[in-house]
Amino acid sequence: MIRTTAMALLLAATFHANAADKAPAKADPAAAKPIAESVCIGCHGADGNSPAAPNPNLAGQHAAYIAKQLANFKAGDDGKPAVRDNAIMAGMVAALSPEDMRNLAAYFSQQKLKPAEAKDEKLVAEGQKLWRMGDFEKGIPACAGCHGPAGAGLPAQYPALAGQYAEYTLDQLMKFRSGERANDPEKMMRMIAAKLSDQQMKAVSEYAAGLR
Ligand code: HEC
Ligand code: HEC
Repeated sequence: MIRTTAMALLLAATFHANAADKAPAKADPAAAKPIAESVCIGCHGADGNSPAAPNPNLAGQHAAYIAKQLANFKAGDDGKPAVRDNAIMAGMVAALSPEDMRNLAAYFSQQKLKPAEAKDEKLVAEGQKLWRMGDFEKGIPACAGCHGPAGAGLPAQYPALAGQYAEYTLDQLMKFRSGERANDPEKMMRMIAAKLSDQQMKAVSEYAAGLR
């Protein structure tokens, strides 16, 4: 009798553990704050407003997109290279658990973006055209179609680009074009970047920086 009860309790405990595994884990942004304030701060700011243009702003970015990037920076256990190959970020994510990544993503998505500024009006005008209408002759779709008319993106797949440093955006477009960045689903960005000229990349990056 006692043994049966113990068995039943054991089974119940196992069942609960499995149920907890399957339930979508709720992110805990507060748990990520100490990591942001000790590790990420130097390059992205503790509140996700980066102090320098090569490091992207993270504040206000969609949580699912941030979590995906963090996972993509990490090489696989099976020795597979990271799908987003970056030496700096590879070092940063090496010690992060999937739970840390989820928490950090929630934390940064809740911070308020202090947006970058567009500086060159001529580039902005050129970039605006490409953003809104694409380039029909070259078969380039409008960026607005996926990243939104105001660059707010669309959760969960399409990142916000509004107020991002132009230098960072330009760098990513070049990395998609060269294939150095290859983590875009269905090659969406690689196919577009392959058709963009240097001038078009510069113009659209400047325009996105000024979007609000
Ligand atoms: C030493 C500087 C440095 C530190 C510290 C750092 N990062 Fe980064 N991070 C970068 C750079 C540089 C990039 C751009 C990488 C590239 O070119 O693909 C980046 C990119 C990212 C991206 C991709 C953003 C996007 O828009 O696609 C995320 C997310 C990110 N970092 C999160 C973090 C988190 C979370 C931490 C703290 C655990 C952290 N980083 C610490 C330098 C840093
Ligand atoms: C068909 C949809 C689609 C269109 C159109 C599109 N994008 Fe994207 N873009 C994406 C997706 C999806 C991602 C995220 C890739 C990933 O998961 O890492 C992305 C990511 C990016 C990034 C990286 C952002 C970051 O924080 O690192 C930049 C920069 C970018 N797109 C610029 C553009 C520009 C400029 C245009 C117009 C010329 C454009 N995109 C048009 C789907 C699109």
